[in-house]
Amino acid sequence: METVDLLIRNIGQLVTVAGHGPRVGPAASDLGIIEDGAVAAIDGRIVAAGSESEVLAAAAPGSDCDVVDAAGAVVSPGFVDPHTHAVFARTRENEFAMRVEGRSYEEIAAAGGGIRSSVRHVRAATDDLLFDNGAATLDRMLEYGTTTAEIKSGYGLSLEAELKMLRVMARLAEHHAVDVVPTFLGAHEFPDEWRDDRDGYVAHLIDEVIPLVAREGLAEFCDVFCEENVFTVEQSRRLLLAAASHGLRPKLHADELHASGGGELSGEVGAISADHLVCVSDGGIRAMAEAGVVAVLLPGTTLSLGKRDYAPARKFVDAGVPVALATDCNPGSSMTESMQIIVSLASMCMRLSPAEALVAATANSAAALDRSDSVGSIEPGKLADLIVWGVDDFRAIPYHYGVNLTRMVIKRGAVVSGDGPDAAPTDGGSS
Ligand code: NIG
Ligand code: FE
Repeated sequence: METVDLLIRNIGQLVTVAGHGPRVGPAASDLGIIEDGAVAAIDGRIVAAGSESEVLAAAAPGSDCDVVDAAGAVVSPGFVDPHTHAVFARTRENEFAMRVEGRSYEEIAAAGGGIRSSVRHVRAATDDLLFDNGAATLDRMLEYGTTTAEIKSGYGLSLEAELKMLRVMARLAEHHAVDVVPTFLGAHEFPDEWRDDRDGYVAHLIDEVIPLVAREGLAEFCDVFCEENVFTVEQSRRLLLAAASHGLRPKLHADELHASGGGELSGEVGAISADHLVCVSDGGIRAMAEAGVVAVLLPGTTLSLGKRDYAPARKFVDAGVPVALATDCNPGSSMTESMQIIVSLASMCMRLSPAEALVAATANSAAALDRSDSVGSIEPGKLADLIVWGVDDFRAIPYHYGVNLTRMVIKRGAVVSGDGPDAAPTDGGSS
């Protein structure tokens, strides 16, 4: 009998998503639901999860144990958000208004807006401003249930400003409850000073920036915006192979605005994920299936850019590609911290079932960050990163959209958002 310091009982639907990720085929819609469940944890790790009688037979609450009555509601793993640009200096609602009036994302970028406008502001910003903005963004993520988030650099685009962003991310990782996974995205755009020598910028990243980022341990992954008028397939390949040789695993912004060969390249270089994929070719999907690349889909970006066509989620499912979901949280193309709205959009606009969407936002998004061993499901040995929901049927999570349905968010066994373990439980919210 294990003495535990966190016990959640009276769980109507314990959504375990148990089993090793990434999940394809029948496992991609198997939430591993246990009715009348309980979860017990000690020192931030789950030691038992199952039916309440099983858990109470294995775990005894210690004298300082937080006991949470879930009141018959749903409990799920915390969301893992595997694609964000959550460190920035300023929002860009001016560009949003221009887009609503009919200007395209590409037109606004060509006129000096877009990523390059965020670059100007990040270069001018202090570390503290970037840290404070990033912490406020992570606070909102946590309230909406995200307990692990990837963050990309890529608004600096000079050695100095990229290192500034990555060091802010390291500070956030140390001080914020959300676990932060850092990705180097020096190839997000060509900075003004290199616009006339694009291959020169690629060589500078390969020869100087990537080795330094790797040596200082500031990033786990290296991403490239592979797209028409941005980084070509050939430049992306060179960058990603160089990054891999320094131990930074490849990721790609692939086929977002045009079919640019990004899906195919992700398979070729053994990327852990390819992201966006709105315009992916059938050959790209096949290459990803063969290489086991996770497809990270970002429906908030499609919505926010006012586009009609969403990434072909069903084609990925049918081809056996693991599908994950992310916010793309960034000031330009997707200003949201909420994985809940992303799960709703995945069901409403990409036709993922509620179960598929929840797998995509937990186990498969953990796989997109190489975190399958520690997060994304509720099973012994994993972190006690949990959402106690205000609903009693998991299908209400995509269905009831645009509001925050979490009742309590738990990170490493501690209640970090919501009404706390001693408060009276709600009535469950849905029926
Ligand atoms: O993922 N596509 C490129 N990068 C971001 C947009 C960043 C921005 O506009 O600031 C994206 O959508
Ligand atoms: Fe992005």
